[in-house]
Amino acid sequence: MRDGMGRIQHVLLIGGTSDIGRAIVASLRPSEGTVLAGRDPDALRTAASGLASAGLPNVTTCPFVAGDGRANEESLTQALQGRDVDVVIVAVGELGDQRLIEAEPSEGSRLATSTYVGGLEGSLIGSRLLASQGHGTLVVLSSVAALRPRRSNFVYGSAKAGLDFLARGLRDALRGTGVDVVLVRPGFVHSRMTEGLPAAPLAITPSAVGAQVARILARRAGGRRAAGSVVYAPPALRYVMAVLRALPGPVFRRLPL
Ligand SMILES: NC(=O)c1ccc[n+]([C@@H]2O[C@H](COP(=O)([O-])OP(=O)(O)OC[C@H]3O[C@@H](n4cnc5c(N)ncnc54)[C@H](OP(=O)(O)O)[C@@H]3O)[C@@H](O)[C@H]2O)c1
Repeated sequence: MRDGMGRIQHVLLIGGTSDIGRAIVASLRPSEGTVLAGRDPDALRTAASGLASAGLPNVTTCPFVAGDGRANEESLTQALQGRDVDVVIVAVGELGDQRLIEAEPSEGSRLATSTYVGGLEGSLIGSRLLASQGHGTLVVLSSVAALRPRRSNFVYGSAKAGLDFLARGLRDALRGTGVDVVLVRPGFVHSRMTEGLPAAPLAITPSAVGAQVARILARRAGGRRAAGSVVYAPPALRYVMAVLRALPGPVFRRLPL
């Protein structure tokens, strides 16, 4: 529950080592505690000590492996120990290698499991936890890749499109429960996921995404619910994507995307 000043007290980050997810947590600055959920205990410990060194109190970790369904639900429920959580961030996923997936379809199943199934489990479990307490915000990291298939990453885009669709459905399903859903569609973010790739136009840092999401959540908590239920990061991408989505196929296919 937010404190009397409206400050966020507890945050759960699913995809606990995610660069973008941790930057959002750092910007939200929860005053009581943070749970990082993920699949690699050593990497989670490193992520937790990084946030603790930045001044965040009570950073703990718990297991979350995409595809583990019920085990994930038990793990997250247990990690919260009956405490309310103000914000659940779903930041699970991998970009994958489009050409490799086309050569080896099993790689596509792996990507779909991490990026779609992991996102679905995080969103459904997170929204259930929030709905049971009757308040809170679910932040789901989708992508502009979800909006139109691109030659270079359409398998990843298809997983993100599924997650984007799910988050929009959840927003409607959760009306009247006190739970808010914020769907974030970043473009190219300089993170571990994009390391070594040439930056796309309008590329931004995880910290910039974190600051933008924190601003939106503060506005929505202040009663401006219309502010950013779908967030483009950076904001200019909203207009760029509107144009790109409207382009005829033969023109779109000639773009180096
Ligand atoms: N970077 C971008 O340009 C960009 C753009 C748009 C959207 N996004 C989305 O933003 C989110 C965060 O990405 P990021 O840039 O912060 O990348 P990141 O640092 O690589 O974070 C990805 C997270 O997903 C976790 N993960 C991957 N596969 C998993 C699995 N099978 N089970 C459990 N956890 C798994 C990773 O855990 P491990 O540490 O164990 O690998 C990590 O915590 C993702 O959903 C991504 O699709 C990123």
